[in-house]
This record gives sequence, structure tokens and C-alpha cells, in this order.
Amino acid sequence: MFHSLCYISKANQFFSKQQLNRLAESSKRKNEAQQVSGALIECEGLFIQTLEGDEAVINNILNKIQRDPRHSEVTIVSIDAAPMRRYAHWSMGCFSVPRSMLPAEIFEPNVLHRKIITPAAKQHIERLQEDFYRAHRVAGGRQCFVDMAICPNSA
Ligand SMILES: Cc1cc2nc3c(=O)[nH]c(=O)nc-3n(C[C@H](O)[C@H](O)[C@H](O)COP(=O)(O)O)c2cc1C
Repeated sequence: MFHSLCYISKANQFFSKQQLNRLAESSKRKNEAQQVSGALIECEGLFIQTLEGDEAVINNILNKIQRDPRHSEVTIVSIDAAPMRRYAHWSMGCFSVPRSMLPAEIFEPNVLHRKIITPAAKQHIERLQEDFYRAHRVAGGRQCFVDMAICPNSA
């Protein structure tokens, strides 16, 4: 059984497109080596990431992510056993999106601090990630833990 983790966090620094690219590239490499797949959305200093793979591996990455000084207020939206991967073709697909594409509530002050994300916001985020996945995944190839696709401000 796979495990799927989704969290939101707040960047502690400004991430240029190049820095975001580097973060996604290095995550992609590490994830690929551990058969982890997932998606990372960046929006105006917020990160939303889904990671899926073996439970122990996901917990280990989560530990590292929680200690990473580049972001803080890591807020777990969900961590569940999952019957299958949602993002099987991506070792880490990465997107920057405009604020209008995310539920307004996640920008409210203290939402991360209080660690409360509503089910509606969670669904909204999942749909957004899945839409990107459908639009950008590489067709075919079970083994293809592919490609970071950076789509700045894509609609
Ligand atoms: C927003 C964000 C997303 C990250 N995503 C991943 C990831 O998907 N996989 C990963 O291994 N590390 C990820 N990292 C990096 C980890 O926090 C950590 O720096 C890295 O796993 C350490 O790797 P090492 O044990 O090889 O030194 C992410 C960091 C940030 C800030």
C-alpha cells in the first residue's frame, strides 16, 4: 500500500524561478531514487506538495522537509494510505500558479498557524494538481517518473 502526503508551507525566502527550478530538480532526483512521485505547487510564497510512495520513505522525507529552513509552518493537509499513485509519471511535477487558482482561505492570516484546512479547500487543491497532471504528464511508460514542468503563471 502506498502512502500519500499533502502539506502546505510558507517559504522563508523569495524563490526566483531559477531557485524553484533547482529545488524541483533536486527533489526530482531524490524522489526518483526512492520511487516517490508527486506534485509541488508554488504560489506567492506558499508551497503545496503531494508526495506518494512507501510509508517509511514518505515519513523520512517529511522529517527532512519539516526541518528545512527554506520554509516553515509545514501544515499537513492529509497523510493516508492510498491504493494507487495519482502522479505516477512525475517524480516531482512543479508549477507556479497565480493566487486566483487557489482557495482564498489558505491565504488568510493564521490559517497555516492554526493548522486547519477545510475539506473544500483540500478538494480544490487536489483538483488543481490533478488537472495539471492530466494536462502535462508524459504519456505512456510506467517507469517514467518524469518531468518537472515549470509553468509560470499558467492558467
Ligand atoms: C518546498 C520544498 C519541497 C521539497 N520537496 C522535496 C522532495 O520532494 N523530496 C526530497 O527528497 N526533498 C525535498 N525537499 C528538500 C528537503 O527538505 C531536504 O532538503 C532534502 O531532502 C535533504 O536531502 P539529503 O538528505 O539528501 O541531504 C523539499 C524542500 C522544500 C523547501
